[in-house]
Amino acid sequence: MESVRVIRTVQDMHRVADRMRRDGFRIGLVPTMGYLHGGHASLIRQIGRVTDRTVVSVFVNPAQFGPDEDFETYPRDFERDLAMVHAEGGSLVYAPSKAEMYPDGYATYLEVERLPDHLCGASRPGHFRGVATVVAKLFAAVKPHVAIFGRKDAQQAGVVRRVATDLNLDVEIMIAPTVREVDGLAKSSRNRYLTPGHRRRATLLYGVLQEGRDRVLKGEKRASAVIDAMNRRVSRSTGVAVDYISAVDAEDFRPVEALGDRVLLAAAVRFGKFRLIDNIVVETEPRAVRELR
Ligand code: PAJ
Repeated sequence: MESVRVIRTVQDMHRVADRMRRDGFRIGLVPTMGYLHGGHASLIRQIGRVTDRTVVSVFVNPAQFGPDEDFETYPRDFERDLAMVHAEGGSLVYAPSKAEMYPDGYATYLEVERLPDHLCGASRPGHFRGVATVVAKLFAAVKPHVAIFGRKDAQQAGVVRRVATDLNLDVEIMIAPTVREVDGLAKSSRNRYLTPGHRRRATLLYGVLQEGRDRVLKGEKRASAVIDAMNRRVSRSTGVAVDYISAVDAEDFRPVEALGDRVLLAAAVRFGKFRLIDNIVVETEPRAVRELR
């Protein structure tokens, strides 16, 4: 079995990327923090259809974790990650160390305005500054033609798109649908933290989003009424705390009150110590009809 090549330094990554480009290969990048699951696998498969070489980066990025967050305990299993990248047809794993990414004297961070003001950006100050910074660094190292992100982290995907556009980066950003467990829970590396009891109750998160979607599809036009219904659904469950439940513009993530024909319903809830997020886009009019107008 041919194994997946692992690259640890920026210098080696540049060399390999330059050679792939010289050979005429289209490079795809799947940025991850490792502990890969079916959501990541789907990203690797999808980008593989439009590129010749897929690089999966595995780096738990300290810059996007707050001081009280789970950087130290974030799950890691590099050997398993390599096996999954291989199984899904990836060619390379770029796994730099913390010191390689943020050596002594490191001083440059990317600040994205407005988009991080809501949802996860509001409850995790500095999070998207860390994400934007690391993603720009990964783009610089891997030199991808295409990079793919999951809609499960819709705000992150929006921030990355903004960075690529604003900095004139020559990379196409693809966004892939959320992969869920059979009971609806969005796959996430952090799901493994859940106790069996919390895992059973975690289906509530998708249930809440569906509750919101049903209200919108039945014709509710006031976001506050939709959000109230969603909150009521959570309050029937014990041991769960709402971080946010919001109805926002799917492009700029600003809260909306009058619901138009496309809205992003997003929620973050805590089960014990652990926080899970999910979102769905609700469209009340088929895209084809909207585009005719
Ligand atoms: P991580 O949480 O490992 O996720 C890596 C990519 O997988 C992200 O684009 C995320 O949106 C996507 N993903 C996660 N769960 C998914 C699911 N259930 N369905 C579809 N896609 C899913 O997101 C990060 O890492 C980091 O912030 C990163 C972008 C790597 C920067 O450090």
